[in-house]
Amino acid sequence: MGVRRTSFLGCFILAVLGLIISAPILCRGGTTSSFVRKVEKTIDMPMDSDVFSVPPGYNAPQQVHITQGDHVGKAMIVSWVTMDEPGSSTVLYWSNNSKQKNKATGAVTTYRFYNYTSGYIHHCIIKHLKFNTKYYYEVGIGHNPRTFWFVTPPQVGPDVPYTFGLIGDLGQSFDSNRTLTHYELNPIKGQTVLFVGDLSYADNYPNHDNTRWDTWGRFVERSVAYQPWIWTTGNHEIDFAPEIGETKPFKPYTHRYRVPYKSSNSTAPFWYSIKRASAYIIVLSSYSAYGMYTPQYQWLYEELPKVNRSETPWLIVLLHSPWYNSYNYHYMEGETMRVMYEPWFVQYKVDVVFAGHVHAYERSERVSNVAYNIVNGKCTPVRDQSAPIYITIGDGGNIEGLANNMTEPQPEYSAFREPSFGHATLDIKNRTHAYYSWHRNQEGYVVEADKLRLYNRFWHPVDDSTTAKS
Ligand SMILES: *[C@@H]1O[C@H](CO)[C@@H](O)[C@H](O)[C@H]1NC(C)=O
Ligand SMILES: *[C@@H]1O[C@H](CO)[C@@H](O)[C@H](O)[C@H]1NC(C)=O
Ligand SMILES: *[C@@H]1O[C@H](CO)[C@@H](O)[C@H](O)[C@H]1NC(C)=O
Ligand SMILES: *[C@@H]1O[C@H](CO)[C@@H](O)[C@H](O)[C@H]1NC(C)=O
Ligand SMILES: *[C@@H]1O[C@H](CO)[C@@H](O)[C@H](O)[C@H]1NC(C)=O
Ligand SMILES: *[C@@H]1O[C@H](CO)[C@@H](O)[C@H](O)[C@H]1NC(C)=O
Ligand SMILES: *[C@@H]1O[C@H](CO)[C@@H](O)[C@H](O)[C@H]1NC(C)=O
Ligand SMILES: [Fe+2]
Repeated sequence: MGVRRTSFLGCFILAVLGLIISAPILCRGGTTSSFVRKVEKTIDMPMDSDVFSVPPGYNAPQQVHITQGDHVGKAMIVSWVTMDEPGSSTVLYWSNNSKQKNKATGAVTTYRFYNYTSGYIHHCIIKHLKFNTKYYYEVGIGHNPRTFWFVTPPQVGPDVPYTFGLIGDLGQSFDSNRTLTHYELNPIKGQTVLFVGDLSYADNYPNHDNTRWDTWGRFVERSVAYQPWIWTTGNHEIDFAPEIGETKPFKPYTHRYRVPYKSSNSTAPFWYSIKRASAYIIVLSSYSAYGMYTPQYQWLYEELPKVNRSETPWLIVLLHSPWYNSYNYHYMEGETMRVMYEPWFVQYKVDVVFAGHVHAYERSERVSNVAYNIVNGKCTPVRDQSAPIYITIGDGGNIEGLANNMTEPQPEYSAFREPSFGHATLDIKNRTHAYYSWHRNQEGYVVEADKLRLYNRFWHPVDDSTTAKS
């Protein structure tokens, strides 16, 4: 039943008939992990936790975070918050082997949300950086400056190795802290995080208590001040609360987090693309209009043909609400977007799609479900070597807890699923090979609970499935 439930609701009758005929072969799906996580309540770290501590000194910068600032990786957006007064929006920066400090000046913004008033939020873009270089940077000039560093990516090119971390639905619970620690101590060293949405979960608090956006910013600083996190918007970024007069979606998120959407000719910060090393990353928004003629649709339609696989072999898509999900949580929420865009993903041979939203882990085989035309009844996912692998990595560990109720039997498209908190890494070796692994928090830093070698769909479209096809 599970296989067919992912298809159009209109297929339901057919599915029931089909089930009777093909019931025996439906059991040949993937693995539901036998690992049973000890069930503990997921609770947020209290306000006085070490990870939320405010840096000492008058107007000291806090919540420092960086993200790629242009299309190719020669710019960085540096953001931070000061609490006492606006202070300086200047960033001083210098490469590791230079004594001369360069200066870039950004801008400061604030916002109100119901009865909360934000601190002074600074965003500054540093441009014309050299590739593959370590830079130090200093913020909080004039009061209590703090110094951080980052390493720029190598120049974009087809065989440039690069390692991405994958984190989703992180929140700020004790489990979130374990996920981040596991990511930091994983011997496979992520150089940039691809974050698939749902950051702070401040909206779970009364009046969306935005002080929980501030604590989240301080919590993740230990990683995101040193390596860029590439942002995707999730439903917890919407902060739509008409009952308290807050009717502008994404208000806290857009004030606090900036993305380089204009460099990919996007007209809104919710969908955009970047190139980084050998990867072309397209970020989509499950919570912005995506139907035909909408800005996001128009942008993606023009964007996909621009991807030059000779330059960036790896085509990766990030979005929040998964298209292939066999948990009984958010079931089929990604379906309308799948119907709109899946044919393009197959046509342009997307390598892998990462999603969050479902608080568990799941990896699909390469499947597509694009043959249906209302009347032909072809509404079942089929193995398709031109299709992406779909990975749900919404297991960062937020306050809402784990999703552990799955559809049974496991659908054939689902290669592996397990309700545990964790993170993943995607280690791109060259234009043909990448190594992917998922790490659950309950085990040591080196343990890989799910892993596979990914073959590039453009350069080496060899079958890389991990379960038998029925
Ligand atoms: C969070 O994790 C870090 C690193 O493991 C640890 O030092 C810190 O005490 C933890 N904080 C909480 C509140 O769990
Ligand atoms: C905002 O309002 C809530 C209740 O309506 C109250 O508990 C809270 O202290 C207020 N916060 C501020 C910053 O005024
Ligand atoms: C500066 O950083 C680059 C890239 O990380 C490295 O190759 C080089 O050795 C570093 N130089 C110094 C002086 O640390
Ligand atoms: C954005 O549009 C401009 C003007 O049409 C074009 O020159 C540029 O190459 C485009 N950039 C990208 C990343 O598509
Ligand atoms: C694609 O990229 C390759 C390698 O950078 C370059 O030689 C080629 O001209 C590009 N093709 C197009 C159509 O831009
Ligand atoms: C699991 O989800 C199904 C479908 O929503 C529901 O009928 C069932 O009661 C759930 N099981 C548990 C143990 O919550
Ligand atoms: C690409 O990387 C894989 C895995 O590391 C390796 O086996 C293969 O030889 C490499 N291909 C090239 C052309 O270097
Ligand atoms: Fe979500």
